[in-house]
Amino acid sequence: MCGIVGYIGKSKASPILIKGLSKLEYRGYDSAGIATIEDDKICHIKNKGRVKELENSNKLENLKGTIGIAHTRWATHGKPSSINAHPHLDSHENFAVVHNGIIENYRELREFLINAGYTFNSETDSEIIPNLIDYYYSKETSNDKFLNAVHNAEKDLKGSYALAILSKFDPNKIIVIKKDSPLVIGTKDNEKYIASDINAILEYTNDIFILKDGDLAYISENKIDFYNNNLNLVNRTPEKITWDAKASDKGDFEDFMLKEIYEQPVSIRETIGTRIVPNKPCDFSDINITKKYLSDISRIYIIACGTAMHAGISVKPIFERLTNIPVEVDIASEFRYRDPLIDEHTLIICISQSGETADTIAALKNAKTCGSKTIAISNVIGSSITREADFTLYTHAGPEIAVASTKAYTAQITLLVLLAIHFAEVLELPKNEIINNLKEELLEIPSKISIILENTDIIKKFAKKIHKETDIFFVGRGIDYATAMESSLKLKEISYIHSDSYQSGELKHGPIALIEDDVTVIGIITDRRLIDKSISNLQEVISRGAKTLIVTNQEIDTKLFPNVFSIPKVHPLISPLVSIVPLQLLSYYVAKEKNLDVDKPRNLAKSVTVE
Ligand code: M6R
Repeated sequence: MCGIVGYIGKSKASPILIKGLSKLEYRGYDSAGIATIEDDKICHIKNKGRVKELENSNKLENLKGTIGIAHTRWATHGKPSSINAHPHLDSHENFAVVHNGIIENYRELREFLINAGYTFNSETDSEIIPNLIDYYYSKETSNDKFLNAVHNAEKDLKGSYALAILSKFDPNKIIVIKKDSPLVIGTKDNEKYIASDINAILEYTNDIFILKDGDLAYISENKIDFYNNNLNLVNRTPEKITWDAKASDKGDFEDFMLKEIYEQPVSIRETIGTRIVPNKPCDFSDINITKKYLSDISRIYIIACGTAMHAGISVKPIFERLTNIPVEVDIASEFRYRDPLIDEHTLIICISQSGETADTIAALKNAKTCGSKTIAISNVIGSSITREADFTLYTHAGPEIAVASTKAYTAQITLLVLLAIHFAEVLELPKNEIINNLKEELLEIPSKISIILENTDIIKKFAKKIHKETDIFFVGRGIDYATAMESSLKLKEISYIHSDSYQSGELKHGPIALIEDDVTVIGIITDRRLIDKSISNLQEVISRGAKTLIVTNQEIDTKLFPNVFSIPKVHPLISPLVSIVPLQLLSYYVAKEKNLDVDKPRNLAKSVTVE
């Protein structure tokens, strides 16, 4: 939820740290801070608000150190304020710590430290960490006082944490630890970079250590020693990351969200990659799912949160149709606590763009303890979920920076559609005709999305018309309901307009009571079999005064429906890949009309690493 950056080398640390923070702001942006060491003293600045405010602080110029740590925060304990911002220092200002995660037992540790003479300024759980380190440091007699003090402090911590720690006693070292929150270290000659995510440091180096849970790294400018939980030295090798550093820049776009919407033709193509092989089954040699295994399972669960969960709902029909295996889609935060009926005959597919969502990871871990096989679908190489799952499949959407997920969603659907096809091929079911048809159609999706992206005037005009509204409804039947749900989430997330989604047929069972003059109802119609029914449902709202926008690839009478956004025809089982695009744009343009910060909506963070 928070972003951590660190640097140690020959250059002035603060500009590198600020630049890194601005790339991590999607992880949290209610306050930010930075600490460096100069003349054996820790100097720090903390501000409420965005990284920009920290950057504009006239005190920043005073930070001259070539070693430092920094943080951008998404509040969990204590309101956004400069006091609650990180880095936190201990009462004696010997140590500075930035923390991502939650310390569950902080109350008892705080009590213990108060009794030991420490004082606290903030309302955060994190402030106990530098104090605990200082406490153990004062008791330490070995030569490696800093290392041992951190290790002893860690033994007391319960919860999740990625930590970067400075000590005024060791002004040329940073210690980092990782447990259940992401952390990477980049290395280049005599410079080391630390970050919560690869993108923040990719412009400096492609050689990246992706830390494992339990890792402690003792970092100086020309050396990194890795230790395990028992403080034994362990070997770690860096990965060569081949992403383009420019992928995490806005380029010519005003916002990341718009850029990411426009990247969808490419991200879908990249996700298909070489999986579709002419005249052969799809290539899924990166997982090992056999005919025997698939024939023996009784159910597939797809588990995720938010947009990723909607991707699951979008692909339930194709999995059931192609594999004849029943599929349930569940919200991770519910699944993990409801004792689901799962065992070795249940396959669990967990979807997470970031691969760091706490609820999804916990759901996957629970499923493993029940004997289920697990597949993770993630967009982030080496993310936590990929280390827990039996198999991992990567979407290749490239870095998604805007909090509102767009290109990751369509990449997830693409990969899951391919997986459903793969399962059908493994099962050797007589479905060649539909499978070949779906493969052909999938390959055409990028160009169909490009057509939509070139013709957005109707959407922009409609956004102008509705941006002052307070309630908007999205309706669809069958697979279109998945798009209605995702569109509604997108709109509320970035425009702060209340919106709801319903299966069109459900309107008259209650929600139609909310329809009155001028209320906006947005209908999605892509399945020819359901067109008449969907139209009657929409006529019912029109006759109660609603105005409508219809997103469709069917023939619709424009006398009945003046606002129609036509999308290209596509196989009904994969239509969510196309029908969502104009509605992503609608949310974007509504938020722009309202002059809102599209990429960083209030109260939200990109990866939700806490429950
Ligand atoms: O990283 P994940 O895919 O696990 O994230 C899941 C949700 O938090 C995420 O999709 C969220 O709903 C997005 N902000 C929606 O745009």
